Amino acid sequence: MTDLPVVRRPLEFLEGHHDRQLLICAALEHLAEEAGADDAGETARMVLDYFEREMPFHIADEEDDLFPLMMQRCHEDDGCEETVAMLEAEHESDRELHDRLVPSLRVLAGGHLIENHAVFARDAVSFSTLQRRHLAWENGAVLPLARQRLSEDDLVTMAEAMTRRRKVR
Ligand SMILES: [Fe+2]
Ligand SMILES: [Fe+2]
Repeated sequence: MTDLPVVRRPLEFLEGHHDRQLLICAALEHLAEEAGADDAGETARMVLDYFEREMPFHIADEEDDLFPLMMQRCHEDDGCEETVAMLEAEHESDRELHDRLVPSLRVLAGGHLIENHAVFARDAVSFSTLQRRHLAWENGAVLPLARQRLSEDDLVTMAEAMTRRRKVR
């Protein structure tokens, strides 16, 4: 195991991960558009690596650390409850699409063509479209609100939990 990060600034860490997610969306759209692209194997391996190593941590960072703290700290008229419920439901639909994408990505990663490219392309584009909308909410509404509502102690608690999560696995 290499590159285990020590999380010091948890909100910036989450935002940095969101930038990485945008690259994954672009990679999936590229794979969807161009069946048999020269770089399909390499691109599919990058997406699989992200799905396996990074995405589960990120979802746990949000669902187990960020969202519960926001629910405690937000004011009634912040609309936190609705936003968190929506984002958690989207994590769930992402998981379903993820499970459908992985077998095809493995085929591409092995240097082969997917039998039904149209189905893969539809799922890949759906995943990217949903993900971009999700990121717009998290970057545009959730993280700015977290910066206002979470205390320094909350951020330290989050940073410790996020670091621990990466060390345990
Ligand atoms: Fe996120
Ligand atoms: Fe999220």
